[in-house]
Amino acid sequence: LTTKGTPEEKMQAICDLLQKEVTYYDWVGFYFKNGNKRELKLGPYAGEPTDHTLIPFGKGICGQVAESNQNFVVPDVQAQDNYIACSINVKSEIVIPLFKNGENIGQIDIDSNTPDPFTEADERFLEFVNEKVSQIL
Ligand code: SME
Repeated sequence: LTTKGTPEEKMQAICDLLQKEVTYYDWVGFYFKNGNKRELKLGPYAGEPTDHTLIPFGKGICGQVAESNQNFVVPDVQAQDNYIACSINVKSEIVIPLFKNGENIGQIDIDSNTPDPFTEADERFLEFVNEKVSQIL
């Protein structure tokens, strides 16, 4: 990460870079716990604007990760019943929780227009990205 800029600017740069460089990362964004509420709020992202700027805990893939504290890899979004569609082009999704001092404070969310593209390498890589982000928050 660069030494300059606010955390928001750095996270924006990460989103822009990942979305540009990884062919199957079509939408890349961070969600964070919204104050004391049991909901997620959209932070920096790259890709198409989404209507889902607030997501209640438990709702969708993101809301489930807010409660489970675990990675969620979805090879086929159409096979999920608790899923919030952002774009009809999206085929798959990966959500990795972001921990600060052991607390689940948010997540990185990636949508792909490719079916079943995510591997354990993506999980390890995005865990690493989140660790780096937690250090600047
Ligand atoms: N698909 C997500 C909602 C967020 S959009 O992907 C940007 C979900 O089911 O939680």
